[in-house]
Amino acid sequence: HSVGIIGVPFSKGQPRDGVQLGPDVIRAEGLVQKLRGQGCAVKDYGNLSYEEVLPDEPVGRVKHPRAVGDANRRLSEAVRAVKRDGRTAVVLGGDHSLAIGSVHGHASAVGDVSLVWVDAHADINTPLSTPTGNMHGQPASYLLHELRPKVPILPNFSWMTPCVSAKHLVYIGLRDLDPEEHFLLNLVGVKSFSMTQVDALGIGRVMEETCDLLCKDGTRRPIHLSYDVDAFDPAVTPATGTPVMGGLTYREGVYIAEHLANTGLLSAVDVVEVNPAVGVSEQDVQRTAGVAVDILLGCFGRLRGGNHPPNFCLP
Ligand code: ARG
Ligand code: MN
Ligand code: MN
Ligand code: MN
Repeated sequence: HSVGIIGVPFSKGQPRDGVQLGPDVIRAEGLVQKLRGQGCAVKDYGNLSYEEVLPDEPVGRVKHPRAVGDANRRLSEAVRAVKRDGRTAVVLGGDHSLAIGSVHGHASAVGDVSLVWVDAHADINTPLSTPTGNMHGQPASYLLHELRPKVPILPNFSWMTPCVSAKHLVYIGLRDLDPEEHFLLNLVGVKSFSMTQVDALGIGRVMEETCDLLCKDGTRRPIHLSYDVDAFDPAVTPATGTPVMGGLTYREGVYIAEHLANTGLLSAVDVVEVNPAVGVSEQDVQRTAGVAVDILLGCFGRLRGGNHPPNFCLP
């Protein structure tokens, strides 16, 4: 595997300080070294830089639209460049509003993508439906073709157009949706495996059905995996800004990565919402960042049953 890492120290899609430190705490758990240790060719492109956008008054309820728009424009270009370099893009967040630029940049380089969104939340509020105004609760609405008529263009967003079809999006892990979001999911007909379905079917069947669905029309689109660490149970990933009880176990979460790696179609992965400053212990921060690393190791071929290099020889 050839991997390109981009850190996105961005927090203005939500109100809690600290999530901008996510990329560095994930790197501090040894991400680059561990990926190289399992045979990946890794290039770390460092952290995305962007300028302060001031003033940035709310537009309707939406907070910091100009900063979020500008950071995502830059991220889209950075992800496109990594894909043009022939690498699988790994985007370390930062808050989940960065999926706007990450998925856009990915699609602008490779064409249509399948989007697998692993999260406690659907993040599909529109600028008009959002109850909080936080843009990390909205990226999916900007990305979907079908929601274009419902999403007014915000300042610093004229660079982006929707790039994902509702039939190519699958959610896994949902358990905290606003009523407006549930309505929107049904309206555009997005497939979702909430925690209820994970409980009923088991993660094995959920992933089988996910892949069947995404491969249904016979085209093997590249997969974009957008992984919010709050999909896990808060006992597994406590250092995150919007934890919700009753999430994925470590085993289920890693299985998702292993299964998608096995398709050979993983082309970009976001790992977002690691926040070391939400009032948990240093040990909890390390556990959370360590889980983020383990997801990525699974995405690039690590199997719990063990691995060895292709031309391995015993001494
Ligand atoms: N649905 C809520 C909102 O719109 C919560 C979103 C949480 N999103 C996240 N990426 N953690 O604000
Ligand atoms: Mn979430
Ligand atoms: Mn499959
Ligand atoms: Mn999210």
